[in-house]
Amino acid sequence: MAKEILLTGDRPTGKLHIGHYIGSLKNRVQRQDQYNSFIMIADQQALTDNARNPEKIRINLTEVALDYLAVGLDPAKVTIFVQSQLPELNELTMHYLNLVTLARLKRNPTVKNEIKEKNFNESLPAGFLIYPVSQAADITAFKATVVPVGDDQIPMIEQTKEIVRSFNSIYEKEVLVEPNALLPEKGSGRLPGIDGKAKMSKSLNNAIYLSDSPDVIQKKVMSMYTDPNHIRVEDPGKLENNTVFTYLDAFCSDKVKLEEMKEHYRRGGLGDVKVKRYLNDILQAELEPIRNRRIEYEKQIDFVLEILKKGSQTARAVAAETLFEVREAIGINYFK
Ligand code: TRP
Repeated sequence: MAKEILLTGDRPTGKLHIGHYIGSLKNRVQRQDQYNSFIMIADQQALTDNARNPEKIRINLTEVALDYLAVGLDPAKVTIFVQSQLPELNELTMHYLNLVTLARLKRNPTVKNEIKEKNFNESLPAGFLIYPVSQAADITAFKATVVPVGDDQIPMIEQTKEIVRSFNSIYEKEVLVEPNALLPEKGSGRLPGIDGKAKMSKSLNNAIYLSDSPDVIQKKVMSMYTDPNHIRVEDPGKLENNTVFTYLDAFCSDKVKLEEMKEHYRRGGLGDVKVKRYLNDILQAELEPIRNRRIEYEKQIDFVLEILKKGSQTARAVAAETLFEVREAIGINYFK
């Protein structure tokens, strides 16, 4: 039986951190034998609100590629490609835009939130508002059925499904395929920043990066937010919103020991420093091979670019086939 097709991607706006790792990278690596996987660096989507800052996107394109290879995505198994190198995606976007109303675009809750956060007001770039349609092109170009994403991307998958249904019904042909979101396991949630804030982000300076050195990791772990009322070791401590324990839930595989520690912490008598040291050991062990692999690839940037180039060629051929079918269905392949 043919493997199901998986597609996902990241905007290259910064290096990837352990939140990305837990939320999706690890899953992608584990699934690379199971699915026919396409992993896309969404540089064009990143440019929708960075048009005046292309340098940032260019730099982070290689950073993200290095992070991908470092976590163990294997170019022999998955196609890693760069969105902007596939003009077919842009033509698909144009065709789909005719099937989507402005009102519908403005209703997308994730986009709505981003517009508010980024304070666009009247200077909202049109390209930003329509990026979910371009995302529909990314997904449908490969006829992907599996799209591993975080909760915030559910509206994009919904919008993609709507476009697929409209297209197939208007042009009376089952050309496009409806995708499904593959969400992170329940309870795994989003990893908060080391300061306990809801989200790891570069601007908040609260992330642990896959490329961080051992002492940077240690410093960040030792400065992590815990229970502010757990002052003396003897005091009983709280586990709710205690970032160190949230991270242990995500990274510690010895669940029995972790339960014992939680019990001890709640009862009192277990100090923050001890728990942080334990977390540090676990993180160091998990991140060391990743960092080492990254350092090896950093020495061969040309080879990394070659991987992206080859992947983009492979991906482009697939997207071109879908685009041809789309043009056939619309009836605009006039000069065959
Ligand atoms: N919007 C996604 C993000 O911000 C990135 C992305 C672009 C994507 N195109 C995609 C994800 C297609 C899944 C499928 O992370």
